[in-house]
Amino acid sequence: MVAAHQLRQRLGALVAEAFAAEGVDPQFGAVQRSDRPDLAPFQCNGALAAAKQAKANPRAIGEAVKRRLDDNPIFEKVELAGPGFLNLTPADGALAEAAASLSTDPHLGAWQRPVDERQTIILDYGGPNVAKPLHVGHLRAAIIGESLKRLFRAVGDDVLGDIHLGDWGLQMGQLITQLAEEQPDLPYFDADFTGPYPTQSPVTVDDLAALYPRASAASKADPDRRAAAQAATMDLQQGRPGYRALWAHFVDVSKAALEADYAELGVTFDLWRGEASVQDRIGPLTERLKAKGVVTESEGALVIDVAREADKKTLNPVMMIKSNGSVGYHSTDVATIEERVEEFGAERIVYVVDQRQAQHFEEVFRAVERAGLIEADRLEHAGFGTMNGPDGRPFKTREGGVLRLRDLIDQVVEAARRRLAEGGFSADEDSAVREDTARKVGIAALKFGDLSNPRTSDYVFDVDRFVTFEGKTGPYLLYGVVRVRSVIAKAGERPDPAAPILLTDEAERQLVLEMSLYGDAVEAAYRRRLPHLICDHAYRLAQAFSRFYTHCRIGDEADPAVRASRLALALLTARQLEAALTLLGIDVPEKM
Ligand code: ARG
Repeated sequence: MVAAHQLRQRLGALVAEAFAAEGVDPQFGAVQRSDRPDLAPFQCNGALAAAKQAKANPRAIGEAVKRRLDDNPIFEKVELAGPGFLNLTPADGALAEAAASLSTDPHLGAWQRPVDERQTIILDYGGPNVAKPLHVGHLRAAIIGESLKRLFRAVGDDVLGDIHLGDWGLQMGQLITQLAEEQPDLPYFDADFTGPYPTQSPVTVDDLAALYPRASAASKADPDRRAAAQAATMDLQQGRPGYRALWAHFVDVSKAALEADYAELGVTFDLWRGEASVQDRIGPLTERLKAKGVVTESEGALVIDVAREADKKTLNPVMMIKSNGSVGYHSTDVATIEERVEEFGAERIVYVVDQRQAQHFEEVFRAVERAGLIEADRLEHAGFGTMNGPDGRPFKTREGGVLRLRDLIDQVVEAARRRLAEGGFSADEDSAVREDTARKVGIAALKFGDLSNPRTSDYVFDVDRFVTFEGKTGPYLLYGVVRVRSVIAKAGERPDPAAPILLTDEAERQLVLEMSLYGDAVEAAYRRRLPHLICDHAYRLAQAFSRFYTHCRIGDEADPAVRASRLALALLTARQLEAALTLLGIDVPEKM
């Protein structure tokens, strides 16, 4: 059933019917948003393709279709242009119906996935590594992943977000051996350590953050240290009690800090699993796959061969167990897929991870398909591009290091604070409101600055541009919502959402038209995993409201019926704009 607010689809169905009546494949009747909005809001270009297929004259087909549509009151105007384009203008009545339908729709027009197609999806969008502070490399995963999670849920899927901590790799052995160098008297290094496990961690998160660079540098500079770190990693994985105790402390300390960082960004996870969660699965899984002949031995390691005849690049064999007995990134990802299917009934797994890991995922997906754990087409790597600095290279601090997320957030919040002050905001607000607003504006700037780029594109982190109130930015959209709300508040009468919609001005028509296209934006963003399409919609909607606000009196309109209609439109705009921002994970401040 096509709802009245699905205006494009409604017109499309009629045009398709007219095509069919002319003996032409109704598929050619598809209607799109016009790329000449000055001529008409919608267009159908199907007559050209249809004519080509039927070896007929496109204008003749267009003419015949137009004749069939002309009398339908849903159209204000049907025009034939050029070689056979149909320009379609809906009647005001159809627009008013669309607005009324939107205001009673619980999803405000957001597209919904057919009930029988809904899936249980695990979304993997964390990937921070224990002991290393969260840095900008994990920022995009968090921002895009949070948005996709909200989008998936909004259309009806069951979604579990998993942080998938990096807590089981070589860096754990590096940390252990580095700590052993620096504090050899700690009891954890005794081979016969059995406890007791102190409740207090011997390291703080800052200790850990400082320890890791020393550990990794030592491991790089000295082959013996690297070998020691590898041996310690294997001992840890095989259960050496002192190492396990240290490891547990490292994880606890990191988790607390991570939780705070993610909370600051408004990013949450349903599952706080990590690579280590699947440690007990890897052995048995590898054995089973060995019996099936999927896992084979290669130079002492147990691997799954994933190369194919037709491959243009060489894919590496997936290492389930390395020759020294340890497990790594491949094995934990393979076993995690088994866990997600068995324990959570995952029907689809989506990884929001840097595009540069594409080959890793290709290897893992192939291995998992060979292992028969899940069909490969249910595994998706939704990769993303790099956040670059002004020099066009991956973002670094001035000193050349990776910037910590916390510092980055402080930077955008500070910029937002300055902007707000320049706009005269701060003067008459108390400091709590001021601070809350600066935070929300800063985070919105950061998130929108990221999400408004197509997921796979690289983009340049530019605080000054992100925090401006003009143009396609987070603050512009927040300001849009705050302004609509204040227009409503100032009207001094509560808007009646059911007030009849009267379209008296072109700006009102444009506004309703824009709102009717929200469903398309949601559907396309969902299908292609592209949140920037929601950004585009939100931006167009905010602009349409701006024109409406400039051209039409709203709360101070003298005619009560027109005033009620305009207030209802303003309310609907605020609701849809907020819904779109919610899908992006962006919170709106009370004032701005
Ligand atoms: N910890 C990894 C990294 O920092 C990212 C993990 C992504 N998720 C996954 N299932 N592999 O590069």
